[in-house]
Amino acid sequence: MHQQQLTEISAWFQRFVATFRAGSPAGQRNYDLKVEHTLRVCEIMERLSASLDHSPEERSLASAIAICHDVGRFPQYRDFGTFNDATSTNHAALSVQTLINEGVLAVLDDDSRGLLVQSVALHNAFVLQGDLPPHARRFALLIRDADKLDIWRVMIEYCTAPREERASAVIWELPDTGSCSDRALEEVAAGRMLNRSLLKTVDDFKLLQLSWAFDLNFSESFRMVLERGYLETLADLLPDQPGCREAVAAVRDHVRSRGAKQGRRP
Ligand SMILES: [Fe+2]
Repeated sequence: MHQQQLTEISAWFQRFVATFRAGSPAGQRNYDLKVEHTLRVCEIMERLSASLDHSPEERSLASAIAICHDVGRFPQYRDFGTFNDATSTNHAALSVQTLINEGVLAVLDDDSRGLLVQSVALHNAFVLQGDLPPHARRFALLIRDADKLDIWRVMIEYCTAPREERASAVIWELPDTGSCSDRALEEVAAGRMLNRSLLKTVDDFKLLQLSWAFDLNFSESFRMVLERGYLETLADLLPDQPGCREAVAAVRDHVRSRGAKQGRRP
């Protein structure tokens, strides 16, 4: 993909998001949150891409995937008033549909278009199945890492903001009981990523996010998590209850061991 095509897709994104306006400041925060998330994911993607042996064309493609990955979030919030896919629609599939409807990808060659669509469609899958060709797999893994790296920031900002300033759709509709459920703690302590079906409370949601560290792929991603202190900050937001310390330790050990490893590609 050429730089000019990336510039066109970026310009379309700005026009597209400007068409979404909520009727209240509280609603608008949810749109603003996704615009900022997208721009931050783009920055992270540039850094991840720079850490690999990418050609300028591959870097442009990686950036375009970052710009496009969450465009479905805008119609999702407009039509359903939530970011919870389980109670609305798969936002990754909606991103793909939006890109097609808007004709954004017409500027791309078939190969780039296929890689972009596949990466966007798979960015929120629980796990990436193993049957993708290596090239396609790399771009899908990149957006999955970049997305997670910024969602940690979003989550931390949400939890530390005054209640009236929080973007309401971040933590879905889970009850804030002040505790994690036992099953969720056991899963994370065993080194497994939490399945969304196990979420019972707001603190389980924080655990789910911590457990995403088990699904990171690139050395640079692990370095960024350590550099930004996300794990420790999220861990501080968890309740003081038996099992939390073990769950956090499992995540921390994983990140430290992978962050210390050299090597560029997973
Ligand atoms: Fe997403």
